[in-house]
Amino acid sequence: MAVAIRACDPISRPAFAGEVSGIDLTRELSPAAVTAIHDGMTRFGVLVFREQKLTDEQQVAFSRQLGPLEDAISDLRPVEERRISMDLSDISNLDQDNRVMARDDRRRLFGLGNLLWHSDSSFKTVPAKYSLLSARAIPPRGGNTEFADMRAAYDTLDEEAKAEVRDLICEHSQIYSRGLLGFTEFTEEEIKLCAPVRQRLVRRHPVTGQLSLYLSSHIGTIVGWPVPEARAFVRDLVEHGTQRQFVYAHAWRPFDLVIWDNRVTMHRARRYDPAEVRDMRRTTVTNEVSSLEQAP
Ligand code: OGA
Ligand code: MN
Repeated sequence: MAVAIRACDPISRPAFAGEVSGIDLTRELSPAAVTAIHDGMTRFGVLVFREQKLTDEQQVAFSRQLGPLEDAISDLRPVEERRISMDLSDISNLDQDNRVMARDDRRRLFGLGNLLWHSDSSFKTVPAKYSLLSARAIPPRGGNTEFADMRAAYDTLDEEAKAEVRDLICEHSQIYSRGLLGFTEFTEEEIKLCAPVRQRLVRRHPVTGQLSLYLSSHIGTIVGWPVPEARAFVRDLVEHGTQRQFVYAHAWRPFDLVIWDNRVTMHRARRYDPAEVRDMRRTTVTNEVSSLEQAP
């Protein structure tokens, strides 16, 4: 069966978020299928695949066909407390014994940073290109993931604003995003690991040449700006870029796999009952270079 992609919302967002059919991700993909996925990502920014019953090994193997992966080191779980391999980020609310974490579990509270609009690994010198999130168990209500189109966010700025943001450089750290939620207790070691990293605020897509706003809750300041002014401005941009018409909300079904391009989107998780199991696993294809190398 040939790979086909149709827009999830053809009327209001024909070029953002597509649903893919005709592909089985548990098997090794043909070069043509890999190309179709890359092309679909370039066009839609978010791709949804239904009914993909992946094991961790299959998810990793499939993800590697799209590019080199980054290590899953950003969730503050020591290696001995991990449920799954270092090739996958554990986006669940489960501990190493597969039990739902207590409401005040530090690892859970840290993970709540995902409720804020962000782009994955923007706090790393070399950030994420694609994220691939597989739903293994979902709660009965809530827990959607929302995606905002940062190409549209840039395109709809007025000319004055476009000129103002074009060459700005932001500093990103998980300390900032967690700080927004009042999660402020970090060890010396964690503070060292979370040293701020610089990224461009406007970046150019290497294939399409399109510009997009590179926003994230991990941003703590703009280089050369007073901090309060920078944060207020970044808030305005996030508010602009996450208006409903730019947002696709994904309502998960078990064994959905969603891929998003972190260069052109932001995303956030929505709340769900903390007593219910939500088991999601993410592989992440690295961008290989900093956004500083993707100037307009
Ligand atoms: C992620 C993420 C959102 C969600 O996996 O990077 O932000 O809904 N997930 O779990
Ligand atoms: Mn994320």
